[in-house]
Amino acid sequence: MEGFISKTKSKIYWCSLENGQKTWKLHDVDGAYTKRSDNYDPQKMMEKNKVNRELQFLRTESNLAKRKLHSDYIKTNSSHLDLACGRGGDLFKIEKTNPKIYIGIDSSPGAIKEALNRSQQIKMKHRMFLLDLTNERDTGFLNAKIKKYQVSSISMMFAFHYMLESQSKFETFVDFLSKINKTNHCVFYGITPNWNYIHKHAKNTLSFSPCEGCTIKALNLPEKIDKDNYAGLKYKFYAEGSVSENEDGLTEYLVFWPAVEQKFIDSGWSCEFVKPLDIFNGLYVQFMFKFTGNKI
Ligand SMILES: C[S@@+](CC[C@H](N)C(=O)[O-])C[C@H]1O[C@@H](n2cnc3c(N)ncnc32)[C@H](O)[C@@H]1O
Repeated sequence: MEGFISKTKSKIYWCSLENGQKTWKLHDVDGAYTKRSDNYDPQKMMEKNKVNRELQFLRTESNLAKRKLHSDYIKTNSSHLDLACGRGGDLFKIEKTNPKIYIGIDSSPGAIKEALNRSQQIKMKHRMFLLDLTNERDTGFLNAKIKKYQVSSISMMFAFHYMLESQSKFETFVDFLSKINKTNHCVFYGITPNWNYIHKHAKNTLSFSPCEGCTIKALNLPEKIDKDNYAGLKYKFYAEGSVSENEDGLTEYLVFWPAVEQKFIDSGWSCEFVKPLDIFNGLYVQFMFKFTGNKI
């Protein structure tokens, strides 16, 4: 299990291959190592010079909401975990809250590389991990590496919808969160798509647009969702200039909150709130959530 030290003395860690080689490749659940497509590699994103104003507005408002959540829940001199940190877009927001250490995790090599570039501009102590949060082996490795830090806040911004590809992947993720070395009042918070909004619109039309430059295409969303069929419910999300593997968008999974919340409750968390974030013309396309209190 190794990492490498970059010029900036920042570390990126990942699970090493069995033959000892260091590589950007990630392994799959069955243990086979395969090269994944890197949907979040900034180099590969479809270039769009002009992002329309509605989408720009949505982004600005989302950034404000993220800034507020981080400043409310990250304590000075604490250890913070940023799950699916992406390109490190929150590094500067989080730095302002003065944590003792920032730990960023993402499964996209391109995104983590960019996060590392950005981290050259910050003074906050940080560690980056290139890992899949739904993979048991990766999360086991991660938990072992970070157990020396007692984490008091965990954030996950705009990425919950990648944790629900299957029930077992989601359970691996919840199990990982339960096993982290945490303080008594550790909080887990973030922003996630509003499943209700997506589901309601998908019933009427297969493809709809929450705002200009942004499309959601339902793939397999059943009319009735319950605790037995909540995982793997696919839709495609396209946002001009940012989430755009191709014109169809990226595959995401519905975050059916009743089942998600129950899984967290079963593993000792309590949900303090989940509420719509009115960031765009009362459309409530996002939910803010906060869990507290799980301690091993
Ligand atoms: C929409 S981006 C959000 C990035 C960042 N949190 C932000 O708010 O700017 C979603 C991120 O989730 C990451 N991701 C998706 N599936 C993941 C997984 N299984 N494990 C870790 N990261 C994952 C992607 O690589 C991507 O960087």
